[in-house]
Amino acid sequence: MKANILVVDDEKNIREGLAEALSLDGHAVRVAADGTEGLKAVEEGAIDLVITDLKMPAMSGTELLKTLAGRYPGLPVIVLTGHGTIEDAVEAMRYGAFDFLTKPVNLDHLSLLAKRALERGELARKNRELEAEVEAQRRRSSIVGSSAEMKRVFDLVRRVAPTRASVLITGESGVGKELIADAIHNLSPRREGPLIKVHCAALAESLLESELFGHEKGAFTGAQGRKRGRFELADKGSLFLDEIGEINQNVQIKILRVLQERKFERVGGEETVETDVRIIAATNRDLKKEIAEGRFREDLYYRLNVVNIHVPPLRERRDDIPLLAMAFLKEFAGEDGKEVEGFDPKARQALYAYSWPGNVRELRNCVESAVVMARGPLITVDDLPPTLRASGESRDIRIPLGSSLEEAERILIRETLAAQGGNKSRTAELLGIGRKTLYQKIEEYGIESGTKSESDRAE
Ligand SMILES: Nc1ncnc2c1ncn2[C@@H]1O[C@H](COP(=O)(O)OP(=O)(O)OP(=O)(O)O)[C@@H](O)[C@H]1O
Ligand SMILES: [Mg+2]
Repeated sequence: MKANILVVDDEKNIREGLAEALSLDGHAVRVAADGTEGLKAVEEGAIDLVITDLKMPAMSGTELLKTLAGRYPGLPVIVLTGHGTIEDAVEAMRYGAFDFLTKPVNLDHLSLLAKRALERGELARKNRELEAEVEAQRRRSSIVGSSAEMKRVFDLVRRVAPTRASVLITGESGVGKELIADAIHNLSPRREGPLIKVHCAALAESLLESELFGHEKGAFTGAQGRKRGRFELADKGSLFLDEIGEINQNVQIKILRVLQERKFERVGGEETVETDVRIIAATNRDLKKEIAEGRFREDLYYRLNVVNIHVPPLRERRDDIPLLAMAFLKEFAGEDGKEVEGFDPKARQALYAYSWPGNVRELRNCVESAVVMARGPLITVDDLPPTLRASGESRDIRIPLGSSLEEAERILIRETLAAQGGNKSRTAELLGIGRKTLYQKIEEYGIESGTKSESDRAE
């Protein structure tokens, strides 16, 4: 494999020597005398592998490595250790170096290691491309839903999309909040502009602020250049603030100001930046409760919640289940090139009856695995995950609010056992516990294993 390799070393002889050796292998080689120069070369693009010394003036190899690991994950780095200490090399490996070479460098070893590192880099790149492609495909697919509840949601989306009003999308995890946010942007006059997404919960507090508002060079250790924040990047477009319930008070105040004044300052900066963004926020938390408990600012809540779109859980719109299941089946059967055409009646019934605590996301995963398991053109109950198989035979169980954990466990065991016709192996499997534990609990809770389920009318 012919590649672009960057060699960073402050000793001219060494970098030139390595460069020559690598050129003989057919690679295009660039050289740099320290980390700063090296980083510049990488920023100019098209570098496939970095080989760097550790101890250098200006920016050290370790710093270079850390920076590259953050900004160019997947770019392999081999470190050179000259001044004897294996510790430095080990530390470098911790920061994600692919491997290390000790000086004086054995050129055969260098050539072999470079080859392996390049293969690894190539693999990482292919995986990333594949992931992006899959994600793009998924996002292109439109929202499925024909229940009265979803019609109401679509109607709201259509009415609010053309405006600049902030929208707060609420609903349990996996109901499709992000898809709704996509739809709002795509139906809005801003659709030619960017849709920038921030997963607020995924970022540490300190990072979130600079991620949202950007920072000036030197604002904090590690801030090597000016960085534009998401509010700036989303100018003339939409900003999706996912999991808004997770952000701290300090950032809440700053977001509030942008919403009110449409301007802000970068972290560590004086200059006021103006931005024209439409805010779409989402949360699976009860923000009213967060406000009552002093964790979320009420004024911010009202700014975000100009229009509220609540996406109901799947169990409250069961009419969407067959449609969604069919759409996912087509998607996955197509991907796998498998001739699966539908669900048999019992499987359809099981899908319909299940409570879907993980909502559409869970349904999607379930159909994906069922397509893999299917042996014929129709998916059967046996192809569904165990949790679903049981629900083909029983229904939801009711555990009254105010029950103790023990009481809830007793009801769950009793009902599962009844739904399985007293079969303890299957019950234990469904509950995810061992048979011995099940026997103990049956004894402890005084459950009569022959008892008919209270909610099982049929038997
Ligand atoms: N109505 C729908 N039609 C098609 N696919 C859907 C629908 N609703 C959800 N999905 C799919 O279900 C998965 C979860 O959706 P999404 O990520 O939008 O949920 P979410 O509400 O943002 O969840 P979380 O709160 O966990 O972030 C995605 O794969 C999405 O494509
Ligand atoms: Mg989401």
